[in-house]
Amino acid sequence: MCGIIGYNGKRIDTLKILIDGLNSLEYRGYDSSGIAFKTNKINIIKSVGKVCELEKKIDSNIKTNIGIGHTRWATHGKVSELNSHPHNVGDITIVHNGIIENFKDIRNDLLKQNYKFNTETDTEVACALIDYYYKKYKDIKIALNHFEKKVRGSFALAIMVNNNDNLYAIRKNSPLIIAKNKDGNYISSDSIAVSKYSNNILYLEENVIAEISAKSVKLFNKDLKEIKPKFTKIDISKEDADKCGYAHYMLKEIHDEPRVFKNTTNQFIYNQIESLLKDMPNFTKYNNIHIVACGSAYHAGLVGKYLIEEYASIPVTVEIASEYRYKKPFYNKKTLVIVVSQSGETADTLAALRMANDDNIDTLGIVNVETSTISRESKMVIYLKAGKEIAVATTKAYLAQITVFALIALNIAIKNKTLSEKEINTILNDINKLPVYLEEIIKQDIYQIIATNIYKNDNIFLIGRGIDYALAMEGALKLKEISYINCQGYAAGELKHGTISLIEKNTPVIGILTDDNISEKTISNLEEVKSRGALIVGITNDTKINNFDYLISIPKIHKLLQPILTILPLQIISYEVAKLRKCDIDKPKNLAKSVTVE
Ligand code: F6R
Repeated sequence: MCGIIGYNGKRIDTLKILIDGLNSLEYRGYDSSGIAFKTNKINIIKSVGKVCELEKKIDSNIKTNIGIGHTRWATHGKVSELNSHPHNVGDITIVHNGIIENFKDIRNDLLKQNYKFNTETDTEVACALIDYYYKKYKDIKIALNHFEKKVRGSFALAIMVNNNDNLYAIRKNSPLIIAKNKDGNYISSDSIAVSKYSNNILYLEENVIAEISAKSVKLFNKDLKEIKPKFTKIDISKEDADKCGYAHYMLKEIHDEPRVFKNTTNQFIYNQIESLLKDMPNFTKYNNIHIVACGSAYHAGLVGKYLIEEYASIPVTVEIASEYRYKKPFYNKKTLVIVVSQSGETADTLAALRMANDDNIDTLGIVNVETSTISRESKMVIYLKAGKEIAVATTKAYLAQITVFALIALNIAIKNKTLSEKEINTILNDINKLPVYLEEIIKQDIYQIIATNIYKNDNIFLIGRGIDYALAMEGALKLKEISYINCQGYAAGELKHGTISLIEKNTPVIGILTDDNISEKTISNLEEVKSRGALIVGITNDTKINNFDYLISIPKIHKLLQPILTILPLQIISYEVAKLRKCDIDKPKNLAKSVTVE
């Protein structure tokens, strides 16, 4: 989603800092970009398309020490140069992430004050409102204070003011950080954009105004009293922000998965069982669990439901956050609400978390970005330890999410003694072997052959039963989002209740069969579609099953851990198909990495 970068300092190559920052924000998804900088006046340059299009318009000889930049992901108003940021009205120039919900009312009020609007955006209205208050109160901090009180919705704003050598920043429901080093101060919506310059970061709180000069960062609370800035040193690994020789971040992140699995589990299993029991929250006090998330994180929640219900016997409901936040929640004092999020900033997931917190329900965040809002606001938190994920389509964070659910189920099962000692030892042994198994799955060369045979199709189906159905849904989302093929994950037994009419000669149907108890049923469903001409691909851990057109064999491990292996071939097939279709794998069209609007 949109990205913000800003700089004020002693360097005069600010335009390079802005362009570098925008390039590193590209992974979040965007459709246009722009910068504003000061010479003897404020200049604005914008472009639709990639940041390199913007770069072509910039005279690299321009020297300036202050500027702001933005990558826009259109919400209000079409993709156009006019609608892209920065916006300027009167004395104010801004870049904005988020959505101003009451912008239409504000626009009508401002029209009466003789403001004119050139775009359909909420951002231009926000800019005009700040200008209105600035003209009224002759003080930018007072103006921003009034702005914060007036607008509803979400915003992270970097602001420049005519005849003022500072940058200003405010935010609500959308993240913003300030970083500093000896050369100056930086603003960004994402630490990755400043990781080259500084790891000394301040997370801007809501209702706080930041005044950023070339030399200092001053903060003011809602009463405009100055408060002390708190910078913290964070760890931004260079390796995470680099492709390390892989053609795409997605491929690199898939190859990261064996290491990620170790990182995720090592937090809890460093001293056999004792550590697993000691370092996790006490789940046994809950008699029901709600898992709330969006997209792939929601699919991870579905896997979590199967595992927790099967091994811990606690009923679990899994809900899409954008639905959950607006429905009547059926929780009681013994409900745990688990929110799952890679970015920790997904607007709907955050709203669901806040709803449960406000209702005094215990909440647990399962989050990758440790400095995110969901990490900070969850009453309890488990980190994924997946490292920075750059490709828009999640792979390693999803794997870490289902790993955490397996560990939660194991933790409760051990405490409630629902697993025998022998079984627990098998699981612990399998946890040790799992990274090697993941490596072996990655090394297989069957994926390209399968991709070559399915990439031209308009429809692909993935089917499975039980936990394999949850994985089929995630596999389908992965294929859809990066290869733009219409793809559906289906409960294997449900296909014949309507959808089977879409099966034609050579329609690929990928069957996932990892559970001996129900594999035979799924085989029958595959036979049904095969006899109607479908091309059958099987992913199985059962060496006896071989009646497929193409077969991907994966190692058989304890059922609690099996999904962690099974998802990998689905991610790799998606990658190979998207490659053959020449899609923009790391930055699929219309998608954003961090969805900070509803
Ligand atoms: C799909 C994907 C999305 C995210 C979803 C939630 O590959 O990445 O479906 O899973 O937008 O994002 P987070 O996990 O950041 O809350």
